[in-house]
This record gives sequence, C-alpha cells and structure tokens, in this order.
Amino acid sequence: MTGLSETSVPKVIGHRGAAGHAPENTLAGFRKAAELGVKWVEFDAVLTRDSHIVIFHDETLARTTDGKGNISETGLSDLKALDAGSWFSREYRGETVPTLDETMATLAALGLGANIEIKPSPDREQETGTAVAHAVESGWPTMLPPPLLSSFEPAALVAAREAAPDLARAYLVHSVPADWREKLEMLGCDALHCLESRLSRDQAKRIIDAGYALRCYTVNSARRARTLFRWGVESVFTDYPDRLLDI
Ligand code: G3P
Ligand code: MG
Repeated sequence: MTGLSETSVPKVIGHRGAAGHAPENTLAGFRKAAELGVKWVEFDAVLTRDSHIVIFHDETLARTTDGKGNISETGLSDLKALDAGSWFSREYRGETVPTLDETMATLAALGLGANIEIKPSPDREQETGTAVAHAVESGWPTMLPPPLLSSFEPAALVAAREAAPDLARAYLVHSVPADWREKLEMLGCDALHCLESRLSRDQAKRIIDAGYALRCYTVNSARRARTLFRWGVESVFTDYPDRLLDI
C-alpha cells in the first residue's frame, strides 16, 4: 500500500461518461452521466500528434467520429473539426472530441469526480503518463474530490508517479495476473481495476484481504453488480448508471 492522496470513489462510476446513453468520452456524455445521478465518471486520455491531451478511446478515429486515421497522427485542430456525436445519434451531431482542459472545466461545473484512464498510443506510454499527471496536478478543479488515475500500461503509471506522486493510481488489467501483488507494489498503486467477467470470488477475496481496492468494468447488469459488491468489490464502471444507482 502507498501514501497516495485519499480519495473516496463511489460505488457506481459512469463508463466513458454514460456510454449507453450518450456518445462516449464527450462533454454531452458527461452531462448525461450527471443528469442520471452518478457522482464520478471514467474517461480515456490520449495525446494528439501535437501532444495535446484529449479524451478518446480507440487508436483510430473511424468508430466514434466522421474522421479517418489514427488519433496519434492527428493534430488538435483537425481533430476538433470532426463530429464525435452523430455516430451515436443525430441528437448529438456537432459534439467534438474534448480536450482534458475542457473536460475538467465541465466536470467542475457539474460537480463530477473522475477516474482518468491514461490510454497511450503505442510508444507514447511514458510521454502520456507524464503529460496527464502534470495536467491533472496543475489543473484539477479544487472543489472536486481528488481524481484517480489508471492505466493498462505500467510505463504510463510509472511516469505518472514520477510526475505527480501524490495522485491516486490504479493498475488496469483484463484478467487478474498471477503476479498482481508484485505489480501493484512495484507500480505504487493502491487499487486494481479488472474486467468483471474474468474475476473469481477467490481472486477478489485475496486482493481485498491484501488491502487493495478492487473495481470492475464494465458492469451493465444490476444482478452482476450485486454479486460483485457482495464479493467486496468497491466500485463498478457502467455504461448504464441508471440500472445500478439504486443498488
Ligand atoms: O477504466 C475501465 C475501462 O474503461 C477499461 O477499458 O477499454 O473501456 O477503456 P476500456
Ligand atoms: Mg477506459
């Protein structure tokens, strides 16, 4: 366990905003999440070609915008010209890929906390971890609860720790690896985030008994969320917060 900043993470976190209800990783999605009643959202932070931090999930633009190519080869001004809402529904036409700064301002206005997933493009792990940690440390709205950083990429977490040691960090995995304890210790993380469908009750018990927080993605059924909470899972990431907030 580490001396990370204390932050209180709620049981239900909106995944990529509220990805079942509004286009993922957009300001409209964060507004929708707040409207549905969540206290925190999760979103993915990545660098553009010209090293601006934007909120975007895929390596390529095609699924969630009207653009083509890779996010890491697109500059901010070209990215901002793209429509990131119409693919989801006409109602969201004109929505753009937000920068981290725009996102922090919107979260402040909405009173939403966040788990910022550092999602580096290949070969930009360290650069992305450093940039996100610096930006969050210097720009996080003081009226919000301290944020939580996470990443699948150990190199990004190490860089984030060096840049801003006091920000809380979680290690993201699909299946829980055999060496989870060593990894968490080595990376100075106080939480593991894992894919809900690959987690067993025994694994959950061992991780929680070792003093780590355990959180699961992506949980869209109330029944599964109840089971995970019974196992001691602290929080779940969901595309449909409305299904889980009453639990
Ligand atoms: O941070 C939890 C979850 O978002 C990780 O997977 O692919 O949805 O970013 P992904
Ligand atoms: Mg994510």
